[in-house]
Amino acid sequence: MGGSRGIGRAIADALSSTGADVYAASRKDVDTSDPDSVRRFVDRHNYGLDILVLNTGGPPPKMFPEVTEDDWLKYHHQLFLGFCTILKNIHLNDGGYVFLISSSVIREPDPRLVMSAAYRAAFAEVLKVQSMTEYARRNISCITIAPGPINTDRTRELVDNIEEFQKRLPMGRLGEPEEIGRFVTAVVERQIKYLSGVVINFDGAGSRHVF
Ligand SMILES: NC(=O)c1ccc[n+]([C@@H]2O[C@H](COP(=O)([O-])OP(=O)(O)OC[C@H]3O[C@@H](n4cnc5c(N)ncnc54)[C@H](OP(=O)(O)O)[C@@H]3O)[C@@H](O)[C@H]2O)c1
Repeated sequence: MGGSRGIGRAIADALSSTGADVYAASRKDVDTSDPDSVRRFVDRHNYGLDILVLNTGGPPPKMFPEVTEDDWLKYHHQLFLGFCTILKNIHLNDGGYVFLISSSVIREPDPRLVMSAAYRAAFAEVLKVQSMTEYARRNISCITIAPGPINTDRTRELVDNIEEFQKRLPMGRLGEPEEIGRFVTAVVERQIKYLSGVVINFDGAGSRHVF
């Protein structure tokens, strides 16, 4: 999902390059903020998946006092309920993988991204519970990827001066979406299964916490 640009596209391309049969969805194929669109998508693609990448667009930056009830409802659907519907109804094969593209804000909230932090944290809990129960029994490994700043349209929407911003990052650069694509492919190709129920910071050492 979210396979037409950015991180999702890089994961789709990397998996395709290994010979996997990949369906990369854009917002036209499924709009995760629209429950009817999500249900139609699940019905069309319920053929047994080995790898599911849960990914969608991020909300606009807004401080809490500016967030309206309509905003909360839209991003509740987009970042939480749509993924719950997919996870509950889509047919995943035993021995498969679920990758959730989340955000570093679930551990280090950014006040401008309160909607993102709230709903992504909530859905990470749902995936964690599934990883511990049904998916553990079925050998389906679940990895939440929490990206820091990655070189995609999303970062260009949120950051005015990327050149200046990069200088303040520990590695002096944004992450490249292809690095996340190669990580996902490596886990799948090497059949790494015991890494499950975890949140991986993909942030070039940008986070301020140890655990
Ligand atoms: N890039 C970063 O630095 C960063 C950091 C932390 C978290 N994240 C989060 O990680 C996710 C992927 O980031 P990205 O940088 O790859 O974003 P991106 O370049 O903006 O790409 C977003 C992808 O999601 C799709 N999409 C947008 N709205 C959607 C909707 N309502 N329903 C279904 N699909 C939708 C887009 O499809 P269309 O092409 O059809 O619009 C596109 O394929 C986002 O949620 C983002 O907020 C990104």
